[in-house]
Amino acid sequence: MKELKKKIEKYKTQFNREITLIQDKKGLQELRNLFLSRKKGYVSLLFEDFKTLKPEERPEAGKIINELKEYVQTKLQALQEEFSTAKKVEKTYDLTLPGKDIYLGSPHPIVHFQQEIEQIFLTMGFTIEEGPEIETDYYNFEALNFPQHHPARDDWDTLYIKDDLLLRTHTSPVQIRVMEKKKPPIRIIIPGKVFRKETPDPTHLPMFFQVEGLVIDVGITFAHLKGTLEYFLKALFNENIKIRFRPSFFPFTEPSAEVDIECTVCDGKNEDCRVCGGSGWIEILGAGMVDPQVLKNVNIDPERYSGFAFGMGIDRTAMFAFQISDMRNFYENDLRFIRQVLRK
Ligand code: DAH
Repeated sequence: MKELKKKIEKYKTQFNREITLIQDKKGLQELRNLFLSRKKGYVSLLFEDFKTLKPEERPEAGKIINELKEYVQTKLQALQEEFSTAKKVEKTYDLTLPGKDIYLGSPHPIVHFQQEIEQIFLTMGFTIEEGPEIETDYYNFEALNFPQHHPARDDWDTLYIKDDLLLRTHTSPVQIRVMEKKKPPIRIIIPGKVFRKETPDPTHLPMFFQVEGLVIDVGITFAHLKGTLEYFLKALFNENIKIRFRPSFFPFTEPSAEVDIECTVCDGKNEDCRVCGGSGWIEILGAGMVDPQVLKNVNIDPERYSGFAFGMGIDRTAMFAFQISDMRNFYENDLRFIRQVLRK
């Protein structure tokens, strides 16, 4: 009897230790077999021992063996229920919870803005052209009516690769490339990267984007230029934006103009505005009537055809559209900035 009590104690301790180690239903079944299996389970073996006991010892022995059996059964049952509810929780979905926000990425704000610009011109019947970023002196300057050594070349701080090879300083050379291949009517825009020897600061970058425009046909006048740019700028900014044309000079257009919009930051009302310098206007475009000499350079008869051209800095205009005071922000790859701009 004493031995039986000891055995029972030992089995209980063993059971209590093993049950804490169980991870899954399989382990649970193994422990159940170890203790309760009909033939070799520890509890069944205890009943074998029971048979060897004297009749007067049996009632107490039966009681303590059954206590162990019940103890084991209850604990195993509890654990089994724990496993089943855990599984149920796993399978239940709360359909009222908000979904996980997966960030898919998007075009860079400048690319996005470029696409908006393209869309406006596409609806006006323009098509999109592209050209090389490495240019020859001829296309970047000479054919655009900048003679060698002309001081106007100094306005474009050029990055040279070799004497005759350079990183294009504007998208204007693509005007020449297109006019060499296509005859009028021409109605195109040319978006792309341009490069200048500039130290980055809030309003200058050594690489930025421009969009060039060119229209050549019979009877094109300055009125077409004005109407096109007004339509474009109203679509890009808003219907009420104020626009002004100022006389200017470019070697490849005559007459030439610079186009300003009313300051988007102070609406022309703050004399101390850091964006417009208090003038109330910000310059965003160069434009003009294509110089007859440029048409001659590409064998288009200036007596028959005329046209207008314009060039606009995309980053600079985006800066005003998004009201950002430092253009370098666009290229610092800070996602917090990029997402904020895209959401506007
Ligand atoms: N290419 C000029 C620049 O980079 C901008 C420009 C001015 C383009 C007048 C034009 C134009 O097509 O007609 O400053």
